[in-house]
Amino acid sequence: MPATPSPFDLANDSAYRAWRGAKLAAYPRSVDELVVLLADPRQLSPGEINALETRCARANMAIYDAPHLPATDKSLPHQLARQIGLVRLDGNYLSDEDGLSSITPADDEGGGRGEFIPYTHKAINWHTDGYYNAPDRRILGMTLHCAQDAESGGENALLDHEIAYIQLRDANPDYIAALMLPDAMTIPARMDEDNIARPEQSGPVFAVDPAQGFLTMRYTARTRSIVWKDGAVTQAAVKTLADILASSEFILTAHLRPGMGLVCNNVLHTRSAFYDSPDRRRLLYRGRYYDRLRFDLGKAPARAA
Ligand SMILES: [Fe+2]
Repeated sequence: MPATPSPFDLANDSAYRAWRGAKLAAYPRSVDELVVLLADPRQLSPGEINALETRCARANMAIYDAPHLPATDKSLPHQLARQIGLVRLDGNYLSDEDGLSSITPADDEGGGRGEFIPYTHKAINWHTDGYYNAPDRRILGMTLHCAQDAESGGENALLDHEIAYIQLRDANPDYIAALMLPDAMTIPARMDEDNIARPEQSGPVFAVDPAQGFLTMRYTARTRSIVWKDGAVTQAAVKTLADILASSEFILTAHLRPGMGLVCNNVLHTRSAFYDSPDRRRLLYRGRYYDRLRFDLGKAPARAA
């Protein structure tokens, strides 16, 4: 168990208040505050690791930028991830051999990959990645590396899930309790982008890791293919959360340019619709991990691989 009182304990308001105040005071108010310029994502310096750690401590995410390197090189996000603790990739049948998924519109948006919204030009509403995964395959870490941005559009709105927690708890702590129930949200069988036969999957929206005490969030704003628990409090909680995500002053919006990427503890995010041109066909490499970000790996002197 964590040594200090958990700010996520609904019975401990003083611990919550102290944590909340510090969190809101430190939270970045501009996406620019998240950006860290990297000389080479494949080999981080201790200073760069510190810079990434500082951003992630404030917002559970950081954006790196390495505009001088070939943005289509998949070793950039792959090796960067390993240096910050992201090792155990969640493979799916649409991912490439290295386990990263190439998110780009399918040639045929009516079939194959194109029947899944990530592989179209369409907007994607608020979600955390892998919300349909079983509890033993929780997605804790996520990366998005931009190989090519679109001619227009394709921005990502971002919100630290701890901020969503704060705004919902401030609205009504009972809403948090409702969304921590193990059957708060149910995904019917066979309803994920992988199109793999999966059993029905129930779980909480917010959960606290029993060993390490960090907060996780499992969420989609989709209204189809989601079954919310019956009851007035749950329904009101879902509505209020949707309202928060529609209007939160803490939402940060990023337009990832080639060579830029997001590393995060699976924060809430969206994608806006976009338009490609023959020269600018949007391509992002996405990694989903069972690991959370950690920053104590690269501070020791580098060892031979
Ligand atoms: Fe996503």
